Amino acid sequence: MSPNEPANPLGDLLRESRRFPPPESFAARAHVRDRTVWPEGEEARLAWWAARARELRWTKPFGRILDWDPPFAQWFADGELNASVQCLDRHLGTPRAHKAALVFEGEPGDRRTLTYAQLHREVCRAANVLRALGVGRGDRVAIYMPLVPEAVVAMLACARIGAVHTVVFGGFSAKSLADRIVDAEARVVVTADGGWRRGHDVPLKEAADEACALASSHGVEVARMLVVRRTGRACPMQEGRDAWWHDAVAAASPDCEAASLPAEHPLFILYTSGTTGKPKGILHTTGGYMTGVAATARMVFDLKDEDVYWCTADIGWVTGHSYVVYGPLANGATVFVYEGAPDFPAKDRFWSLIAEHRVTIFYTAPTAIRAFMRWGDDLPARHDLSSLRLLGSVGEPINPEAWMWYRRVIGGDRCPVVDTWWQTETGAILISPVPGVTVTKPGSATQALPGIVAAVLDDAGRPVERGSGILAILRPWPSMLRTIWKDPERYRQVYWSRFGPSVYFPGDGAKRDEDGDFWLLGRIDDVLNPAGHRIGTAEVESALVSHPRVAEAAVVGRPHEIKGDAIAAFVLLRGGPPPADAGERARLADALRDHVGDEIGKIARPDDVHFCADLPKTRSGKIMRRLLRDIASGRALGDTTTLADPAVVDALRRQYAAAED
Ligand code: WT7
Repeated sequence: MSPNEPANPLGDLLRESRRFPPPESFAARAHVRDRTVWPEGEEARLAWWAARARELRWTKPFGRILDWDPPFAQWFADGELNASVQCLDRHLGTPRAHKAALVFEGEPGDRRTLTYAQLHREVCRAANVLRALGVGRGDRVAIYMPLVPEAVVAMLACARIGAVHTVVFGGFSAKSLADRIVDAEARVVVTADGGWRRGHDVPLKEAADEACALASSHGVEVARMLVVRRTGRACPMQEGRDAWWHDAVAAASPDCEAASLPAEHPLFILYTSGTTGKPKGILHTTGGYMTGVAATARMVFDLKDEDVYWCTADIGWVTGHSYVVYGPLANGATVFVYEGAPDFPAKDRFWSLIAEHRVTIFYTAPTAIRAFMRWGDDLPARHDLSSLRLLGSVGEPINPEAWMWYRRVIGGDRCPVVDTWWQTETGAILISPVPGVTVTKPGSATQALPGIVAAVLDDAGRPVERGSGILAILRPWPSMLRTIWKDPERYRQVYWSRFGPSVYFPGDGAKRDEDGDFWLLGRIDDVLNPAGHRIGTAEVESALVSHPRVAEAAVVGRPHEIKGDAIAAFVLLRGGPPPADAGERARLADALRDHVGDEIGKIARPDDVHFCADLPKTRSGKIMRRLLRDIASGRALGDTTTLADPAVVDALRRQYAAAED
């Protein structure tokens, strides 16, 4: 098989020969210093994970480690614990109680710090509020918020009482929020009046109101809405349903006993895109997830009490769940949180934040790194970045030049760079350097972490020792997804059928080099990664065809210098051909882009809209995606307006047919 074109121009990975051993000073102080940590063999592996799990606080210790009925796993199933206790109560009564847990800066520059003791009180209050609203164990709560401390409080408050949170990124549309509320059957929504983004006040409450109305028309009635006051924008409150967060929380008791929950009690559902138009509700449970995120946050980020750790992800993504909230707080770290955009009010905002808050560990995405590179070296050079000691990358393949720039310009050639591979489904990082041990290579995620068994397989499922193929995870791991919410059959079919029911198929292409190191090559399915966000081509297609002017649509990715993937849409119109006038054509294309923005969210707006007379299909009726990718990237046809000519489409179709049918 040959994986799709990599999401970004990766350069010639085969010729990449630069090597960076861990700096001695870093290795000498690191939590993990030598390779003896990696357990060998299945028995040792399970014992190693059990030891990681025992580092948590259990209200009822577990005896069983793994129950594996492929593809359904249970970890530590007879134990009981609470996720919020790992992140809060465990640190109280230690010197950590009065250290900063969250250091927050809003986009307008407002600042707040919450110590572990204060965060604990806030979470208890919010948990009591949720209980008083009738939220019980297993009930789903949708969280649609800007990146402010209350968002973290809301997540942990759900965890405290055994409610299941489903966080929906604030950039998603009302319609997307409604779909998730309906699928999860969430009766309570936590939102904010608005959030700050590039100086604009993003109207979240309005979108939440619209989503509730839509959900109601699909039979799911949101009974209660809590609204955090963030931007102060006027928003109508619905009598009997809505309450202000600050009123409710201030009136609530700061004591709330944490529910003792079975290890397999659901912690959260997080929706992510797949190859159909319907996002999948990825279900994570308590004991295994907490074990995975706590252990990996410690190993990969080497978290110490004196660190100021900043992961730039929003809590609407899994990175925000695992490495803004649960992983670092379980380690008692100081977590820096910033609400806004990297280029507001100026393109050096991140560097000034690092300098002012003395950030020591910085974790961001390649798309951001490529934008920073483009903005120039002089911006970071204006700020004192000497507090940094470790850099991380996540979300998509990082091209060696971006990796080198990150290391040199941001890391001052002294900070190890950890390129961390994982997914919403994996819950925690699976493949990554361990910074005090691993020799890093620009562009390589290097090795599977301790306790993880990863491989590259060929089409027939045979291991590829050296060369490229399909990434696979050969053994279950504690933080793995348990199922797709309400759809175990889809879970089995999507992740556990490619190589049989006991091999996990992530959907990524990968290569192994002569040292056995992994190089991730991008998705091999119809999932795109524009600017580190995950979007299914089918989702964008179904949004497009819901527009009255669109008869049919096909969406593919094309390489984009900064975003990794750009979204290219090929559209067959109904009700007449595309307007002959170029200005009118451009307006129609914009209307279609806006429509996709309204249906899904801005992140899914197509970069290119090509109108065509016909969509090239194989004789069996499959859209010829390789042809479209070649056209989108300019490889097959310079001028896409000629796609309005059926003869051109037909000629191209014939040219590609042999390869694709
Ligand atoms: C997909 C998962 C994991 C948190 C953010 C994304 C791609 C992720 C890397 C990396 C190459 C990567 C994969 C994966 N991906 N990290 N270090 N190198 N590719 O989570 O939205 O679930 O997306 O992101 O293609 O399958 P997600």
